[in-house]
Amino acid sequence: MSARDPHRFTNELDNTAIERLITRLESRAKDAVFAQLLDKYIAKLELPTANMVLEVGCGTGAVSRHLAQRSEFTGKAIGVDQCRQFIDTANKLALDEAINEQVEFRLGDAHNLNFPPATFDVVIAHTLISHVTEPEVVLREMANVVRPGGSIVIFDGDYASLTYSHPDHAFGYRMDTALAVATFNNPRVMRELPRVLPGLGLKVKEAWGDAVVEIGSGSYFKSFAEAYVPYVIKSGMIAEREVDDWLELQKQSMDEDTFFASCNYYTYIVCRD
Ligand SMILES: C[S@@+](CC[C@H](N)C(=O)[O-])C[C@H]1O[C@@H](n2cnc3c(N)ncnc32)[C@H](O)[C@@H]1O
Repeated sequence: MSARDPHRFTNELDNTAIERLITRLESRAKDAVFAQLLDKYIAKLELPTANMVLEVGCGTGAVSRHLAQRSEFTGKAIGVDQCRQFIDTANKLALDEAINEQVEFRLGDAHNLNFPPATFDVVIAHTLISHVTEPEVVLREMANVVRPGGSIVIFDGDYASLTYSHPDHAFGYRMDTALAVATFNNPRVMRELPRVLPGLGLKVKEAWGDAVVEIGSGSYFKSFAEAYVPYVIKSGMIAEREVDDWLELQKQSMDEDTFFASCNYYTYIVCRD
């Protein structure tokens, strides 16, 4: 057994696992802290003049649907994802929310975006780049389809900073590392971008970091742990009994208001040189 990032290898997942990820993506989008991080970069984009927006790795379309619901956005958002079930869910939710004229979701591979060069005013990768097979290939594709003067947003976590408190520090560290490695193909990619982007002809217009921290009770990190511990077990990095005990302890600390977890997230707004 080895680590198999579930968002990279969606093709290996059964229906139950896909449903669990759909629930996680939709619940994360509703989380107040996470919604704030999205709004923070949206406020920096010139939405009223953005006619065409592309979200690469759109999952259930939470980000694009949020854009479509904003009054200052009058353009069209297209979402692309490799997972058929996510795309079907995204299109169904858009229909339910009566925004299906403003958004469209299509099956596709981030490594080979099937659009003419310079098609989009804004191209977004919201927690995609940590999962893909070849981050540089994906960034190059994004650079190709954004128009000169347009913006590319790369938002993701730095999962080497992902940590849950645990009284046994050495075991806690092992579990933090296993969670990062089992869930993300590229857990450290966000700290590599300042080095990688210039080589792709991309210039950083603005970049910043936010720490997502839960102290006392847990909601964001509760759903994260529940969604992804199965992949730690599957990876064989830590024995199932130890992982179950870890999860039990986290739930207990949430019940007792003694919980602590955190992770840093980074946003880069970049343009073509
Ligand atoms: C963590 S989810 C993020 C979904 C969405 N952007 C959001 O924030 O709700 C990562 C998504 O990337 C997609 N993905 C991973 N590799 C991909 C690839 N090569 N091409 C297209 N989509 C990909 C997965 O299917 C998954 O939907």
